[in-house]
Amino acid sequence: MEIKLNPLPPDQIETEALVIVTFDKDSPEGGLASGVAKKINALTGGWLEDLYASGEFSGKAFETAMLHRPGGLKAKRLLVIGAGKSDAFSAAELRRVAGAAARSLRSKSVSEITLALDAGAGAAAAVEGAILGDYEPDRYKTDKKNGKAIERFAVALEGGGAELEQALERGRIIAECQNFTRDLVGEPANRMSPTALAERAREMAAEQGLECEVLDRDRMAQLGMGALLGVAQGSAEPPVLIVLRYRPNEDAGAVHLGLVGKGVTFDSGGISIKPSEGMEKMKYDMAGGAAVIGAMRAIAQLRPAITVTGVIPAVENMPGSRAQRPGDIVTTLSGKTIEVLNTDAEGRLILADALSYARRLGSTHLVDAATLTGAIVVALGHVNVGVFTNDQALLDKVLAAAKAEGEKLWPMPLDEDYKEQLKSPFADLANVGNRWGGAVTAAMFLKEFVETTPWVHLDIAGTAWLEEAKPFMAKGPS
Ligand code: BES
Ligand code: MN
Ligand code: ZN
Repeated sequence: MEIKLNPLPPDQIETEALVIVTFDKDSPEGGLASGVAKKINALTGGWLEDLYASGEFSGKAFETAMLHRPGGLKAKRLLVIGAGKSDAFSAAELRRVAGAAARSLRSKSVSEITLALDAGAGAAAAVEGAILGDYEPDRYKTDKKNGKAIERFAVALEGGGAELEQALERGRIIAECQNFTRDLVGEPANRMSPTALAERAREMAAEQGLECEVLDRDRMAQLGMGALLGVAQGSAEPPVLIVLRYRPNEDAGAVHLGLVGKGVTFDSGGISIKPSEGMEKMKYDMAGGAAVIGAMRAIAQLRPAITVTGVIPAVENMPGSRAQRPGDIVTTLSGKTIEVLNTDAEGRLILADALSYARRLGSTHLVDAATLTGAIVVALGHVNVGVFTNDQALLDKVLAAAKAEGEKLWPMPLDEDYKEQLKSPFADLANVGNRWGGAVTAAMFLKEFVETTPWVHLDIAGTAWLEEAKPFMAKGPS
């Protein structure tokens, strides 16, 4: 999608669809209070005023009304979209509203849009919303696609400015990288093996000027990654460990961020096999890995002043004749041994070795993302990502960043008391606890492998996949 800034006043804008955002009539800025709404109302001879008065439109979030060939404007269509209560509005909300406008117009095959804003504050969010809302996971539909992709999206803000241009560019990069991740996550397991994922990472790295190294089974065996290889041995698909490296232009000082993502391209559960109901969804068990690859792509373009290394352990968890059995004991890269009581708790096994490896590569701080447990979905549903840490200062930074971007994260506990559950009579650790607090015991298990490195763990099992389409986003990978 081409993104542009349009500095003209609304009446001068030639576009297929001019979009304006108005608030709930029962809020401080409701109805015609905003500058753009006032202007458009005057230009159209009171259309907005009449629309509100009719009761057919009240400015509730994602409500829309469309006018063709609006008098007084050069635009072919005028779309007004509700943004809910003005006192609850934020950049995150504008992202959703812009997404909903994009999806509504896309479904009508309108491929060129201009969104008029009052202020520059949310411009980047509006761009993100449009790009995210335009995304449809319909690659394998040969018929009946949902409209056609939006080709051009402009933000209209009178006057324009270089700072604003930069904000739009940042929004474009982040949203495109998010869609890149969604593409990877949506691929079915027959088309997204560990090898295929490594191929995509390699291609992306070559395009973006990142270093990419892919460790194969022999190399991992040499290094001693027994936990990762144990999971992989039940599948005909060979495992890989993908390493992506970003180095800043100038010497960045001491901080080296390690991003680690769970890359299980299909999780059948292995010998501890899952029920068949819903198993098809376990193709998204590589969403954490895909998110790390997408984040590295954004980092390559945004060029922050720190060193970042992405580590993605990628395996398929299958119950083949060589599969690991419940009761098997594996030796990890760290030297610690694990009794595998349940082969379906495979994410923590591959992450154990990947986290150790990320430390070995020099990470001073670690963040991992993993569709790790069904228990986090029980605890937090599909709204919040569960976050765990061994370092409150690092978590505070992550929470502040999430808040600024309108991402929902909820801190979970990680007391030593939970460790009790991971005792094994025969090895250093068991890979599962009892049925209570499953998301916490999984995080507790990972904690054993990050040792003293400041670390934040994101359990994204509940949030990586949208069960139902939203007005602003398609069903599927989020
Ligand atoms: N990939 C699953 C977790 C998951 C569940 C992701 C639902 C997305 C949606 C993970 O590997 C798993 O199977 N976890 C088990 C752990 C259990 C065996 C201790 C679970 O949550 O049931
Ligand atoms: Mn599993
Ligand atoms: Zn899994």
